[in-house]
Amino acid sequence: MIFDTHCHLNSEELLPRLEEVLESAKKVGVEKYLVVGWNKESSLKAIELAHQYDFIYAAIGFHPTDIDGVSEEDYLDLMSKANDPKVVAIGEIGLDYHWVKDPVQREKQKEWFIKQIEFANKVKKPISIHNREAFEDCLKILKEHKPQFGGVMHCYSGSVESLKDVLDLGLYISLDGPLTFTNAKTPKEVCEVVPLDCLVVETDSPYLPPHPHRGTINEPKNIALIIDAVSEIKGMSKKHILDVLYKNSCALFNIKL
Ligand code: NI
Repeated sequence: MIFDTHCHLNSEELLPRLEEVLESAKKVGVEKYLVVGWNKESSLKAIELAHQYDFIYAAIGFHPTDIDGVSEEDYLDLMSKANDPKVVAIGEIGLDYHWVKDPVQREKQKEWFIKQIEFANKVKKPISIHNREAFEDCLKILKEHKPQFGGVMHCYSGSVESLKDVLDLGLYISLDGPLTFTNAKTPKEVCEVVPLDCLVVETDSPYLPPHPHRGTINEPKNIALIIDAVSEIKGMSKKHILDVLYKNSCALFNIKL
């Protein structure tokens, strides 16, 4: 049993062939999905999919590169859906300094991140965190505005040294495609040392396809390659890895096993 804890079935790359995508993922054992929104429209789509399929769950929120021009009305309108039983997380939210260099914009990202963490605490949901090249600020915010209902560092790209800080906050680490890249040193080290009880996996599809599918549109079925890599790096049986990761994912999002 596999839980893809972060994918965008609500994207224009995957949505038009959803049935085929779900069918091929089912063949490798994918049984649950968290479909993650990045703006109002994609979040609403995630909720719609979650209502259409019992094995799909939704995360709603505003990604740090999608906050420009969002009105308070749109924000409140989307967040009013947070009590929907199929909305199991607020995300993806966070900081992205790779695409945003302007200090004013970065400040705005911080405000939005804090606002959404506090909202998640209010509605008692975990968060799905996007952090790109902003680890220090991201950590500072998380320490000052602690996610009280947990969360996950989606596509963890930090060092082994930073791992402790994240785990001390009670957050899960999520690994994905880069773990399988032939030149991936850090993700492999992270995978080796992270306690299995604090780990989940994801595809972030349609992005980040694992080796040997780099350069193609990623799909949830490719999560099998990530699980194989975890099993190999940790030197544990695939069955054990599958069991623990699935349990972790359900615990993270408060979903009954
Ligand atoms: Ni994503």
